[in-house]
Amino acid sequence: MHTFQDMPAELIERDPFTDFGVDGALLTSGVGERVNAMTITWGTMGVLFNMNVVTVFVEDSRYTKELMDWSGVFSISFFEGKQKSLLKYFDKVSGRRENKFATSGLTVNEHKGIPFVDDCSFAIVCRLVCRTKIKEEDIIDSDVIAKLYSGDNKGNTHTMYVGEIVDFLAR
Ligand SMILES: Cc1cc2nc3c(=O)[nH]c(=O)nc-3n(C[C@H](O)[C@H](O)[C@H](O)COP(=O)(O)O)c2cc1C
Repeated sequence: MHTFQDMPAELIERDPFTDFGVDGALLTSGVGERVNAMTITWGTMGVLFNMNVVTVFVEDSRYTKELMDWSGVFSISFFEGKQKSLLKYFDKVSGRRENKFATSGLTVNEHKGIPFVDDCSFAIVCRLVCRTKIKEEDIIDSDVIAKLYSGDNKGNTHTMYVGEIVDFLAR
């Protein structure tokens, strides 16, 4: 296992638009042996309920969602260089069908009982504080419905998961 250092929020100098939207990350959840991860590019970081939080958006069909609901914890792991190509695999296959960690060779690490990916360069470990399924009628921008939630995806809105940031971990 690699050594990670936890960092105070005020020392974090990262750009969430690049981290999430451009590079992508692995969202990991579970407990003990029952852990899974999936690729994400939707995520936000800020303050809510007087806590430092990260929000991620997960579609109903994802195995990771089942583990988030079950365990109440999750993490987001960010990668550098060649390892970013692994994100494709964590999208293509569902953890319901195979153990993505065993196949990819990535390793699960744990911080305060919260699983994250040991091979990452930076991770945020969180405990779940709030979740809500986005209702179609609450989406004000009709372009969002047209582009993301029509045709086969009608009604298939994402659930918003807000996690309190327990620690930022830098390798
Ligand atoms: C670039 C990229 C970004 C993705 N972002 C998300 C996301 O933010 N939320 C989501 O629910 N699925 C997202 N996905 C899809 C999941 O990674 C994919 O469905 C995965 O197989 C789910 O795995 P699981 O069933 O093991 O949880 C994304 C896929 C790609 C390629």
